[in-house]
Amino acid sequence: QSLQGQAQADGGSGVETATVIGAGTMGSQIAAVAALAGFHTYLVDIAEEPLAQAVDQLRSRFDRDVEKGRRTREDVEAAWERLITTTDRDAAAAASDIVVEAAVEDLDVKRRIFAELDSVCSPDTILATNSSNIVPSRLAEVVEHGGRMCNLHFFNPALVMECVELVPHHGTSEETRRRAGAFAEELGKTLVTLKQEIPGFVANRLLNAIRREALSLYDQGVADFPDIDAAARTALRHPMGPFELMDLVGIDVVYLIRQAEHAQTGDPEDLPDPAIAELYEAGRLGRKTGRGWYSYA
Ligand code: 3HC
Repeated sequence: QSLQGQAQADGGSGVETATVIGAGTMGSQIAAVAALAGFHTYLVDIAEEPLAQAVDQLRSRFDRDVEKGRRTREDVEAAWERLITTTDRDAAAAASDIVVEAAVEDLDVKRRIFAELDSVCSPDTILATNSSNIVPSRLAEVVEHGGRMCNLHFFNPALVMECVELVPHHGTSEETRRRAGAFAEELGKTLVTLKQEIPGFVANRLLNAIRREALSLYDQGVADFPDIDAAARTALRHPMGPFELMDLVGIDVVYLIRQAEHAQTGDPEDLPDPAIAELYEAGRLGRKTGRGWYSYA
């Protein structure tokens, strides 16, 4: 190996095999990104059904990419070879150099997952959560080797969005910071590194500010939500307005993120907006249920 090759190898993540926990919208696409980038990837869920659904969705997504000339058939087939779905979480995690958890946004669930992972993974395995809001120190508390814990936060749709935020806690080791950041870059993502943890990180805090203002304008009756979206799209050139974005991300996700944030800060300002709570309780969860702020045929 050349000196440069050696240096690159030394600066790399050292990851060959990755496990992604949770076959929902985020987890399935994160696993696809990893498989496309050349990693042996396990996509794990507790039941076969969400795994089968994820495979169907990724299949049609990949087929469309091939049709449109965005990827070659060979690249896509090679990614399928590397992507294994399984319900045997512990076996997958034990064979992996990094685990990215993308399960439901619930602190207790995540703490249980990481406590269990801690006992099956090698101490060198990076433990990362894709949580949007739960800071890594809350999860590191249940992990014996807390230095390997961090957040790697992807954006929806993960196959498309370039950004990954790396969020360390005060005890995250230098080695984990370096390797997790290198892994995100090896996935072809642009890395945004936080120097310290804060709920919401950077991008969601920016988004929150916009969403809060949009909901306040709507609640006050200043403008209807499609007009607020139109302003964001056409005056600010955002690809989507804040209401369209809530439907894409999922009203349930927005609701649970607010609940999680409120649980961490105790600030009533952080509670879900009443309009969000109403949609959530009505089961209008956005694109995935065919109805949220908007209706989808
Ligand atoms: N999955 C994968 N690829 C998708 C996709 C999805 N759900 N939706 C769209 N795409 C890709 C496809 O390649 C599509 O091309 P195709 O239709 O030929 O297959 C291409 O994007 C363009 O899609 P559309 O023509 O439907 O629409 P747009 O041009 O508006 O692009 C978008 C769609 C990329 C989603 C764009 O609207 C966008 O960037 N929206 C903002 C997304 C955003 O802000 N995400 C961050 C959310 S916050 C978050 O995730 C944090 C979390 O913690 C909550």
